[in-house]
Amino acid sequence: MAAYSETVMDHFEHPRNAGEMDAPDGEATVRNPVCGDRMQVMLRIADDRIAKMQWLTRGCPPAIATSSWTSEHVEGWTLAEAEALTREAIAEGIGGLPRDKVHCSVLAADALRKAIADYRARVS
Ligand code: FES
Repeated sequence: MAAYSETVMDHFEHPRNAGEMDAPDGEATVRNPVCGDRMQVMLRIADDRIAKMQWLTRGCPPAIATSSWTSEHVEGWTLAEAEALTREAIAEGIGGLPRDKVHCSVLAADALRKAIADYRARVS
């Protein structure tokens, strides 16, 4: 296995907020065109903030770790703050990624942004 940071391994071995959410307020599924891995994000939203993010990811250790890390960090954020979360910030948050795994941080950022867009479309 590639050399991953302690944070990647911690989130990979002990994923936070994984699993289905009943009747989410917004959701999205994205697929990484590079490798075919998939991530589904489900959001509970209250007062324009993320009350809860859950996810289902079929992918590599960094895909699992970035899903878990993101779900933990965006709780309580405004939608605008969450929309501004970049894949670079996620990759930095998990302690960096090997060069050939940088694309793995795309899933979490994209899925989160699309789930927020889904919520905005539902309430508009
Ligand atoms: Fe597919 Fe990492 S190899 S997201």
